[in-house]
Amino acid sequence: MANATTTAKISVQDVRKTFQLKNKEFVALERVNLDIADNEFVTVVGPSGCGKSTLMNILGGLEEATAGQALVDGRNVSGPGPERGVIFQQYALFPWLTVRKNVEFGLKVAGVNAKDRRERAEHFIDMVGLGQFADALPKMLSGGMKQRCAIARAYAVNPSILLMDEPFGALDALTRVKLQEQLLDTWNREKRTVMFITHDVDEAVFLANRVVVMAARPGRIHEVIDVDLPYPRTEEVRLSPEFAELRNRVWHAVYHQ
Ligand SMILES: Nc1ncnc2c1ncn2[C@@H]1O[C@H](COP(=O)(O)OP(=O)(O)O)[C@@H](O)[C@H]1O
Ligand SMILES: [Mg+2]
Repeated sequence: MANATTTAKISVQDVRKTFQLKNKEFVALERVNLDIADNEFVTVVGPSGCGKSTLMNILGGLEEATAGQALVDGRNVSGPGPERGVIFQQYALFPWLTVRKNVEFGLKVAGVNAKDRRERAEHFIDMVGLGQFADALPKMLSGGMKQRCAIARAYAVNPSILLMDEPFGALDALTRVKLQEQLLDTWNREKRTVMFITHDVDEAVFLANRVVVMAARPGRIHEVIDVDLPYPRTEEVRLSPEFAELRNRVWHAVYHQ
């Protein structure tokens, strides 16, 4: 049944998550409240173990909150759904399928016919700049290219929400910056609601409309910082004093909790 208490695209209400360890309870998330608007780009940053992945897994329907609720489009999350695309740090591509087949996979599962599948896959493969590699197997791709393929695959099934858990965490700094720009470029053209987890403060500020800073023991939201920087986020933006000031604020919130 629809829950009418929110108009937010994503609404996390008083979420608590505990894990049972041997004979004691471990509190991974405590009183987490967060609303994310339609087409908003929110980044989540915080120290290791503060519950970032747990929060994302609850929204992805991979874990269940112990108390409170997670709503998407006003409805309680119960399990994964096609309106939520999930991208993890490790490139979850099928190694025996080409880039094209990987991107087409979700469409095939959804029963899209071969011609439409091919067209849609082509569109998103081009969008992430992998046109020349459509028929390559994942093992022929660099880390950055694999992650671009994962992004194309997530976009292809047309989810209105992208949940990304440190997707660029394993990449070198330069590839990372390029993928950040490309992701924003994609988001500008095909708006989605994005929750993007990172432990990189620069990345958190560069991408976001808002940065959610979490704290650990227990995992909770420490501070939410608005990023009033214009899009497109060019190199000029990245090097601006306003960016530096926001980065310092977020840095301070993360490291002096
Ligand atoms: N399935 C689980 N069982 C027990 N503890 C867990 C489980 N999943 C996560 N945790 C613990 O919950 C805390 C938060 O984990 P996680 O959400 O992965 O943090 P983050 O992504 O911010 O690094 C960590 O201390 C972790 O060890
Ligand atoms: Mg994590």
